[in-house]
Amino acid sequence: MGVSADLDSSATSSRRTPLIAGNWKMNLDHLQAVAFVQKLHWTLKDAKHEDGSVEVAVFPPFTDLRTVQTLLDADKIPFALGAQDVSTQDSGAYTGEISGAFLAKLDASYVIIGHSERRQYHAETDEVVAAKVKAALKHSLVPVICVGETLEQREESGPTAVSVAQLQVALEGVPADADIVIAYEPVWAIGTGQVASPEQAQEVCAAVRRVVAEKLGEDAAARTRVLYGGSVKAANIASFMREPDVDGALVGGASLVVDEFAAIIRYQKHVGV
Ligand code: 13P
Repeated sequence: MGVSADLDSSATSSRRTPLIAGNWKMNLDHLQAVAFVQKLHWTLKDAKHEDGSVEVAVFPPFTDLRTVQTLLDADKIPFALGAQDVSTQDSGAYTGEISGAFLAKLDASYVIIGHSERRQYHAETDEVVAAKVKAALKHSLVPVICVGETLEQREESGPTAVSVAQLQVALEGVPADADIVIAYEPVWAIGTGQVASPEQAQEVCAAVRRVVAEKLGEDAAARTRVLYGGSVKAANIASFMREPDVDGALVGGASLVVDEFAAIIRYQKHVGV
């Protein structure tokens, strides 16, 4: 076990339903998405994950959302649906942007905000991330707010400083009763196979939870799920889920492989959890 959050909230982690989220990034077109979701559902059927002990969410590209929504609805598949980004604006002359209102109409529950790939390739600042968090909440979407440091930043300012600073801006003006999820994704662990240790993940997830407590109060800190993301695999998920402040995972590459993602969702079956 790693460093505990020094908050009552970590001791009550059993109150938080674990969330295993698959961020597909720019992978799987809408036809491949249908085959993938059907196969994942079929693979999990015997796992009785439908008992609600773990929540499963998929985050397909925008062009797949309507198709996946229709499939989940028609086949009564108990996966939550999320988008990978949202506009700061509701509507208007913003070519290429997608409104939170449109996502809400598609029954999307979640939206990823501030992923490091958007910060890096689309120059999203902490202020843009904060505006997107507000846009998501306005349309009753749960923002999955991503924070995390590069290796250089970790060496310069330690493991928690960047995530804490990013989250402090992202939570500015967010009401205490808002439903949010935080994902700690160290940039150096994304898609690299260089996974953080469970202790490293715990240390930052605990710091993140302290920011939620400072900004939104102890109740919010006890309720909010904090995920770890970065080279999560079936082989390492159980070690993260043992940590008191890690409430799930945001999975990239491994969420595109049915058997691997199903095994991650079934982490409770792994020895020692
Ligand atoms: P990988 O699981 O491929 O490292 O990606 C993590 C991620 O960025 C999820 O949002």
